[in-house]
Amino acid sequence: MTEPHIVHFASVSSTQDAARELILGETGAKEEPCPIGTVIVADVQEKGRGRRGREWMSPRGGLYASIIMENDPLLPLRVGVGVTRALQDIGIDALLKWPNDVIVRERKIGGILIEALLERAIVGIGVNIEQAPLPAATCICEERKEAISRDELLRSILCNIKMAYCGDIVDEYRALCSTIGRDVTVTVGNETMMGNVVGVDQSGCLVLKMGDEIRIIHSGECNHIETLSVWRDPADVLG
Ligand code: BTN
Repeated sequence: MTEPHIVHFASVSSTQDAARELILGETGAKEEPCPIGTVIVADVQEKGRGRRGREWMSPRGGLYASIIMENDPLLPLRVGVGVTRALQDIGIDALLKWPNDVIVRERKIGGILIEALLERAIVGIGVNIEQAPLPAATCICEERKEAISRDELLRSILCNIKMAYCGDIVDEYRALCSTIGRDVTVTVGNETMMGNVVGVDQSGCLVLKMGDEIRIIHSGECNHIETLSVWRDPADVLG
């Protein structure tokens, strides 16, 4: 990634749409084609998008950014590692939930949405800084005493993504992925599977063990099955 060219909006429907317009030259931007490394950042998004058509609530006080990057099959892993490392750098125990939800204590703190357009990738990153918009989420201010400015966090994320182009990204991803070893449910289309995650393969696919069967999952919705947090006498559990 080259030096970032940052385009700031006070409010936008979605930074993904703003990036799309820049790439397609719909904003009358003089630079064409829109350079790789361009970052679109907004204070507020009116129609923030999440994965699988979900809404990404985007009130003031969060980080909402889209980066125009070169497409690469391991991009989701690089970005997941970059965002997680940036949060760890400020003392937050962030980890990844496959494929690339950024979580702390099993609560979501950040999300990544990657969309392809004209051989480019639009990498959307949302991080909850001042508030967690949903009860099952958390934010930086809840996890850490000192606040951090959005722009400082963005710089650190960009720097960490850049570093995710060195070394073995799959190994780094595995080290940060809290899904490995967990019992999970994975929904792919209309099918929901339950099993134990035995790994993430060289392409970033989830390796799920269901009894004697191994399934390789390319994309899907994964949920960690909670383990009992208090010790219970097995006799009570088994009746
Ligand atoms: C997810 O569902 O976990 C992905 C969330 C991605 C949200 C970010 S915020 C910046 C960019 N603009 C959007 O509309 N979505 C992404």
